[in-house]
Amino acid sequence: MGNHTKLLRSVLVAIVYASATIALVAAPGNKHATHRDLLIKKDLKITVFHPESSFGTFDQGIEHPLSKSSSSTIESSTLSFIASRLKVDSSAIKFRTSHLGEITSHAYVSQVHDGISFANAVANVAFNRGNKVVAFGSSFVTPKTIAPSTPAITLKAAITTAENVLDGKFNDHPPTVEYLVKDDESVVLTHVVQIQNDAAGAWYQAFVDAHSGELVSAVNFVTDVTYLALPITSEVPTQGFQNITNPQDMTASPFGWHSTTGTTNTSGNNVQVPTTSALNGNFIYPLDPTAAPTTTGNMNAARVNAFYVANSLHDLAYRSSAFNFQTNNFGKGGAQNDPVTISVQDKAGTNNADFATPPDGQSGMFLWTFSLPQRDGALENDIVTHEFTHGITNRITGGGTGRCLQTTEAGGMGEGWSDAMANLVEHTSSAVPDYVLGQYVTNSPAGIRTHPYSTSATTNPLRYSSIKTLNEVHNIGEVWANTLHNMYAALVAARGWNPLFGTTNPPPPPGDGSGGNYIFLHLFIDALALQPCNPTFVSARDAWIQADVNRFGGANKCTIWHAFASRGLGVGAANFVDSSAVPSGC
Ligand SMILES: *[C@@H]1O[C@H](CO)[C@@H](O)[C@H](O)[C@H]1NC(C)=O
Ligand SMILES: *[C@@H]1O[C@H](CO)[C@@H](O)[C@H](O)[C@H]1NC(C)=O
Ligand SMILES: [Zn+2]
Repeated sequence: MGNHTKLLRSVLVAIVYASATIALVAAPGNKHATHRDLLIKKDLKITVFHPESSFGTFDQGIEHPLSKSSSSTIESSTLSFIASRLKVDSSAIKFRTSHLGEITSHAYVSQVHDGISFANAVANVAFNRGNKVVAFGSSFVTPKTIAPSTPAITLKAAITTAENVLDGKFNDHPPTVEYLVKDDESVVLTHVVQIQNDAAGAWYQAFVDAHSGELVSAVNFVTDVTYLALPITSEVPTQGFQNITNPQDMTASPFGWHSTTGTTNTSGNNVQVPTTSALNGNFIYPLDPTAAPTTTGNMNAARVNAFYVANSLHDLAYRSSAFNFQTNNFGKGGAQNDPVTISVQDKAGTNNADFATPPDGQSGMFLWTFSLPQRDGALENDIVTHEFTHGITNRITGGGTGRCLQTTEAGGMGEGWSDAMANLVEHTSSAVPDYVLGQYVTNSPAGIRTHPYSTSATTNPLRYSSIKTLNEVHNIGEVWANTLHNMYAALVAARGWNPLFGTTNPPPPPGDGSGGNYIFLHLFIDALALQPCNPTFVSARDAWIQADVNRFGGANKCTIWHAFASRGLGVGAANFVDSSAVPSGC
């Protein structure tokens, strides 16, 4: 897919998101559902209005006037349904587009007056396979006043205004004339033009009142962003950096990975890495392996890589828990308002990396000074992934207090999940090779753990009972991570491996969770939300079993039990005494 297509996709998603915000049902007086402040630049804020949407769902579906007509089309069905439902003339409705799906078909319309569409008064209808309406949303309005449909201001004057206010240039995208509903229920006529400022990474759709000449609204499009980074499936720099363009998942990160003010640095919505600047959204800083990690160029290479990896994980975790991430309140105001701060070559130390969760995730990638040449932890993806995963596990366990992985056993599992996530995202095929963490920073094939993670009990003999004699959280974590390594292998063996995962930007899990690798990811995240505060190996195991019941109807029960039992966590496991037993029927 060329950049152009990707760019377009971002724009479409931006538009879809803009209209999705209005579908929220507002409590009276709550402006979150109808208004949005756009910070255009330092001293310019535009408040954008979207009329409130009504929304209804109809279970098995309701009839529409053309339900029984054999010659009806989705267009005629939609127009007749809306006209009857809203008691408006069909000349007030303009069919815009439709999407015929396997389960449901969807139609999207806008309100019109004198043949001119309303930009922000729209409706959508969903039909089931029986041609009945199963959902209807509408932000159609009954205007108090409506401006004449002939512009008094020229397009040229409108463009000049938009360019001046938004600090950019008209980009020749065909302008339109559209009605726009304002929050005083008046409807103004607008010239709609696109304004870009490449140096600032800014791109807007501007609405200029065609009678008063004022800028009355704007939509902020997402611009192209490129990161020179190690793909998420890679572990160490020698595997090669790539230019990765627009890797953000727009569902998990609706405004992209940067702030709405533009893509000029790595201080973003989810992750903040102070501070790397980019021109035109190009975060391209080649690593110079012959120079010290502390040079500006190499620091920037490390920061961009940390930013890319951490955001990829944010999106992946968000999508795999989908609803959970939103219904659970992670700290104050949810994950979007709670960015993880990553400092590269943190002054606080060397030869380590660490993560502090409450109340904001803060992660430090330290310089590894005992290796020669010195190496930056932010350039080794498994180190970045390990750290970021602490944020995920600390925030989800216990519902966001950040206080629920505090015991030695729970803290040990915290380390284990972090290693297991690094192990998970690097798979590029169904093979489950032994996994070593920290090879690059230590410049040693043995890495930083006592054993490789392995399906072989000879290569890695750690089992549940091993933790009886372990006191250090990373050592305890090795037992849990090795158990999960075997869990992953078992699920992939039983349910196959979904190749979608092994791409630069792992796409969201399929709804059916197909592929053992996606099942593993779902259960990994779901179980975090189920398990108690300060879980033990045994309660964390039970959470996996329940997570499988919740999401997959228990389809993987025996696979999961066998994997746990293979490392001593069978049904009778307790007090660090192994059990290899599985429930009867497995
Ligand atoms: C990344 O893009 C830059 C700018 O276009 C280019 O000079 C560089 O060779 C590219 N690097 C890779 C690894 O593709
Ligand atoms: C990053 O850029 C945004 C938008 O220009 C700005 O508000 C913010 O202060 C910058 N952050 C840093 C650390 O430079
Ligand atoms: Zn750790």
